[in-house]
Amino acid sequence: MSDRIRALLASVELFGEMHEDELDDLTALAQVKKLAKDTTIFHAGDPADAVFVVASGRVKVVITSSDGKEFILTVLGAGQVFGEMALLESAPRSASVVTLSAVEVLVINRADFQRLLDSNPRISLRLMAILSRRLRRANAKMESLAYMDVAGRLARYLLDLARDHGQRLGNGWVVVRRPTHSDIAHSIGTSRETVSRLINEFEEGFGLVNKGKFTYIRENLLE
Ligand code: CMP
Repeated sequence: MSDRIRALLASVELFGEMHEDELDDLTALAQVKKLAKDTTIFHAGDPADAVFVVASGRVKVVITSSDGKEFILTVLGAGQVFGEMALLESAPRSASVVTLSAVEVLVINRADFQRLLDSNPRISLRLMAILSRRLRRANAKMESLAYMDVAGRLARYLLDLARDHGQRLGNGWVVVRRPTHSDIAHSIGTSRETVSRLINEFEEGFGLVNKGKFTYIRENLLE
């Protein structure tokens, strides 16, 4: 098991430049948790005591309006880190995180994460790069919500999904499994019915086609 954790940690962008002995230390500190689909890992507003790495499966990062409407900020997959914001700010959780499938997470407690950042400036720099990329993404999302119609927002959503979670097929196409239409609707500010209608309207000629639960996208659209 610990070999697997070590290999996973070594593949995580945040820990990419760690020395072998540091990676050994981190492997000893990380705890593995197995979670069923639809498990809430924590709620927005909760106090924070750990940072998480997705080992397998996917999670959604969600905020809920006062009248109970869900908005999905992002979907995170294997190798991606979450739960760092509240630790860095010493603030409550900024959003809820819920599993979209069976998920394994690695859990690193607050004190260990703090020590890691203190002793390893490269990890802090990498974390800044990750946060900066998330801010760039959030800006793009604001732009699409403000200026694009629903079809444009859906196309952009599917491109981002394929870029983040897709698998190259080697024939010029990338395939990605889509979240439910309801989750997609909650990510782009529309209804489930609208997503279901539009999903079938994308055509192969445009380089984006939906078949069953999967979306196929031409690789060159992701460049
Ligand atoms: P934290 O605030 O501790 O708990 C919720 C986590 O969701 C947060 O840390 C980040 O890891 C993650 N998160 C919040 N907002 C976004 C976003 N816009 N994009 C990606 N991840 C986010």
